[in-house]
Amino acid sequence: MAQPTPENWRASDELLAEILLDRDPVLDAALDAQRRAGLPEIEVSPVSGKLLNLLVRMSGARRVLEIGTLGGYSTIWLARGVGDGGQVTTIEAEQVNADIARENIDAAGVGDRVQILVGRGADVLPGLDGSEPFDLVFIDADKESNTIYLDWAARLGRAGTVVVLDNTGRDGEIVNASSTDSKVRGTIEGLRMLGEDQRFDATALQTVGLKGWDGIAIALVV
Ligand code: DHB
Ligand code: MG
Repeated sequence: MAQPTPENWRASDELLAEILLDRDPVLDAALDAQRRAGLPEIEVSPVSGKLLNLLVRMSGARRVLEIGTLGGYSTIWLARGVGDGGQVTTIEAEQVNADIARENIDAAGVGDRVQILVGRGADVLPGLDGSEPFDLVFIDADKESNTIYLDWAARLGRAGTVVVLDNTGRDGEIVNASSTDSKVRGTIEGLRMLGEDQRFDATALQTVGLKGWDGIAIALVV
């Protein structure tokens, strides 16, 4: 039997992508562009991007909110899911990232359905209050603000809105209750909120693959 090593997780993830995903020069080009620009290699893996795309389509989401654009890789997966006439609003704190994302998203042919708002989530989100509810919210930004983002996801959603929270495993560090890592603490706080806040019904999947050992939580606004 193959040993459960990081190399084997990575090879398995690559095999899953090879078997299940279409070859995708557009997404490859988006990744190349963000690597060339020196963005951190923390975008979702291909199979996780496909999961986002399928969740959008399975839930029939037409209005999607993403918190944390980075170079637009996950945004493209989401924007493909909403289809013609759908809309993705994505929030990015760093102008340089937003500029790269804009280019990648336009090059992917989905620019007309993606609005990028530049600023910190906590500053930008109140401006979306009162808009038509979002059908799906993907949270993938600074982990320290997870509870703020989850609160806004519930407020800007409706009963039936799908909420996805990235990076809920963090190499297993979430079991370390005394961790002083602010990202780990923010991750645990987000998970606790999903468990305790009556607005959510949630679960989480652990992932091992290209990005090591991590996870993703999926919730329904009830
Ligand atoms: C980090 C953030 C992410 O969104 C991710 O997918 C992986 C790592 C981080 O900030 O460490
Ligand atoms: Mg992430």
